[in-house]
Amino acid sequence: MTVGTGPSPFTETTTSARRAAYEQLTASGPVQETVLFTGVRVWLVSGYAEARALLAHPGIAKRPGGPHFDQTPAELNAAQNTHMLTSNPPDHTRLRRLVSAAFTRRRIDTMAPRIQAITDALLDDVATAGRAGEPVDLAAVFGYPLPIAVITELLGVPEQRREAFRDWTTIVINGSVYPADTYVDAVEQLVGYVRGLIAEKRAAPADDLLSDLIAVRDGTDRLSEDELTSMVKLLLVAGYETTASLIVLGTHALLSHPEQRQLLRAEPDRLPVAIEEMLRYDPPLQVAIPSVTTTPVDVGGVTIPAGEVVVPVLFTAGRDPARFEDPGGFDIARAEAAQHLAFGHGIHHCLGAPLARLEGRIAIGSLLARFPDLHLADGAADPARHPSLLVNAMAELPVRTSRSRVHQQG
Ligand code: HEM
Repeated sequence: MTVGTGPSPFTETTTSARRAAYEQLTASGPVQETVLFTGVRVWLVSGYAEARALLAHPGIAKRPGGPHFDQTPAELNAAQNTHMLTSNPPDHTRLRRLVSAAFTRRRIDTMAPRIQAITDALLDDVATAGRAGEPVDLAAVFGYPLPIAVITELLGVPEQRREAFRDWTTIVINGSVYPADTYVDAVEQLVGYVRGLIAEKRAAPADDLLSDLIAVRDGTDRLSEDELTSMVKLLLVAGYETTASLIVLGTHALLSHPEQRQLLRAEPDRLPVAIEEMLRYDPPLQVAIPSVTTTPVDVGGVTIPAGEVVVPVLFTAGRDPARFEDPGGFDIARAEAAQHLAFGHGIHHCLGAPLARLEGRIAIGSLLARFPDLHLADGAADPARHPSLLVNAMAELPVRTSRSRVHQQG
């Protein structure tokens, strides 16, 4: 068993060090028992076939849990964790059906013109920030604001309330790397914020996803108060951190491979497959949410006993040489790119995948069209990553929008 003192991909904070730590992990085999930096013992399942099999295995179950679970008041745990991603059938089936009735394809498709308009306005900000040849942090100016605007608009969060939750969600999603009291405080703020939004929307329903979630019914069944609060919190958190990373990490991959950039410029119809390759090459979530084995589970030639915590590693699954030829290469024409596990697999496969793909295509397609000379600025070759047991996010991505610097007279 590896004890979590060696290189850990979760705590490595440069892109190259994280990749090297993952290479070290997979070199030891597709299934590894290890102790994380948090002191928790888990089984990391890093091979593609093994992770995919595990995600659909009937002998694993999600459980209510998460960082600092025991230090978080039970009332807050219930208000933030009673959602489909911590549920198992039949509860999961019921919750996913109820939520899918509100989170429909039609509602997502009608967002396309709004996503384009939000994107165009943000690209104006990028142009302004980069006008004098100055480096622009694409994460701060474009990658994060875009999905925040989209998910809050989709839910129907009033304009003046849209920025408020960002500080708390960053702490909540990366809870393990923060002290317990910081985490609990952020959960309390976020839950209070979501409850406030629900109360406001109950008083004044509108044509938006939050109103639909409040109203949704399946016969006599409906979402309980904790289920509703947890679901809105999940949508807010899942809906932007991951999509922001798709935009930022995907742009970084493309700009780091000029020949691929050139190919996409010459043949823009390749964009949908390019987005899949971005998700495979550098997925927004390093791992799926941990599960527990409910029976002994055979995977990758190892029998994991019942009652163990198992974690499918999405990052390494996408780079498994047994599944993807030249897995470390970035190839926007890769035929099997969409086989990645970045959106998970099985019953918990990402409910927001169509929205994320739509946002990714509009964001990256419009960015490249608007700035044909976009390139990485100094310091962007090996960008810093946030330490996290879950997300794979860059702290910043400095780019320049044009080749020529404007020398200002002064
Ligand atoms: C590129 C962006 C995204 C990525 C990479 C991503 C990734 C994932 C993954 C890996 C899972 C499964 C986790 C597991 O099995 O433990 C998941 C589930 C989920 N995602 Fe996403 N996601 C993205 C965007 C979104 C968006 C935009 C939304 C909604 C607005 C969303 C909502 C959800 C929900 C509700 C689930 C739970 C599904 C269930 O348990 O049945 N995601 N996502």
